[in-house]
Amino acid sequence: MYQWQLASINPADISPIMEIEQDSFAFPWNPRSFLGELTCKHAYSYIVKSIGDMQAEKIIAYIFFRLIEEELHILKIAVTPHWRGRGVATWLLQKCFSVALELGATSAFLEVRPSNESAIALYRKEGFRIIGRRPNYYADTREDALVLMKNFKEDV
Ligand SMILES: CC(C)(COP(=O)(O)OP(=O)(O)OC[C@H]1O[C@@H](n2cnc3c(N)ncnc32)[C@H](O)[C@@H]1OP(=O)(O)O)[C@@H](O)C(=O)NCCC(=O)NCCS
Repeated sequence: MYQWQLASINPADISPIMEIEQDSFAFPWNPRSFLGELTCKHAYSYIVKSIGDMQAEKIIAYIFFRLIEEELHILKIAVTPHWRGRGVATWLLQKCFSVALELGATSAFLEVRPSNESAIALYRKEGFRIIGRRPNYYADTREDALVLMKNFKEDV
């Protein structure tokens, strides 16, 4: 029996986060980028820990986001490959929405690569819709970004 637990992030967590990051993205952030978010004003970040019988607790996912005025901007979400397809990202996104709503957010935004079909499916399921495209957004591949938005007011 496993349980998921939401926790805030300490600098010591960046090393296990980097392992997931490298498994998840062709062009990963570096530790400095993550550390910068921990001290940035308006920035929030959480990890998910899995706690199982007879098992040491383990970081299995993370999310980094910012709250700018009433807008939630999701910068990064990832789940360790072993734990994908079990609802962890859905659970973590919903925790993020709860935090943002408590702090007064009325809408959420993010950018995603058009090739990232699993992430787009996740976001659509959670109420995001495509509102635009930023040409050549990703410097590494010159891929466009899709801009997705979720209006929290439509949820009530
Ligand atoms: C995208 C990601 C965060 C999804 O995490 P996850 O914990 O596996 O997602 P969930 O189990 O909560 O799945 C939620 C929904 O996402 C979609 N989804 C997840 N994995 C999918 C896959 N391999 N193919 C298609 N859709 C998928 C489905 O709609 C799914 O709903 P369903 O289970 O009812 O079909 C994970 O695959 C990941 O970490 N990818 C690498 C990092 C990344 O791309 N992050 C997003 C950057 S914008």
